[in-house]
Amino acid sequence: TTYDVGFLVGSISSTSINRRLSKALVKLAPQAGLNLTEIPLVDLPFYSADNDGAIPAEAASFKEAIEASDAIIVITPEYNRSVPGVLKNALDTASRPWGQNSFAGKPSAVIGASVGAIGTAVAQQHLRSILSFLASPELAQPEAYVHMREGLITDDGEVTDESTTEFLLSWLTAVHTHIAKTLSPVS
Ligand code: FNR
Repeated sequence: TTYDVGFLVGSISSTSINRRLSKALVKLAPQAGLNLTEIPLVDLPFYSADNDGAIPAEAASFKEAIEASDAIIVITPEYNRSVPGVLKNALDTASRPWGQNSFAGKPSAVIGASVGAIGTAVAQQHLRSILSFLASPELAQPEAYVHMREGLITDDGEVTDESTTEFLLSWLTAVHTHIAKTLSPVS
């Protein structure tokens, strides 16, 4: 089975290394039975409960795209040992109005790239905490911390290193297995 997976990129930087990682994942995904499509978060207004009665159009289509996906991959940098504000805003938007949490029961997986060696590990722990509160069944293992060095992934998402390619493919395969198990559990 090929699954349709939406992904969020937790950086809106024009030179984002996490966007570069996302392009690599998009290219490799079909080999793991996944079809990856970005769900953009850059145009979302700041979440406010004031708008719960009349959800902004951008927020409504964001929530619909999450709900229509078989699973969600979150690809994020670490900002000050946590998730970037743009990503938290997107997750808050998806979680509301109360009772209409778009992540409920939706399988998810997290990955991130940093220039620092332990980069994104702390952000990913925060992200896992948020996703579990949102009742999203998460891929526990393997964890995926991509240490981005110059030239590892080209601007158009070509991975230049064999072991990184293999790692990303095995991670995507684990995501596929996680989705299959979550969506059709064996009784
Ligand atoms: C960072 N960076 C960073 N890196 C890290 O490993 N741990 C951290 O806590 C932080 N904190 C942090 C805060 C802020 C405000 C910025 C702008 C950056 C460095 C970060 O990993 C690096 O800038 C990446 O390139 C960010 O990812 P994108 O935006 O390129 O995808």
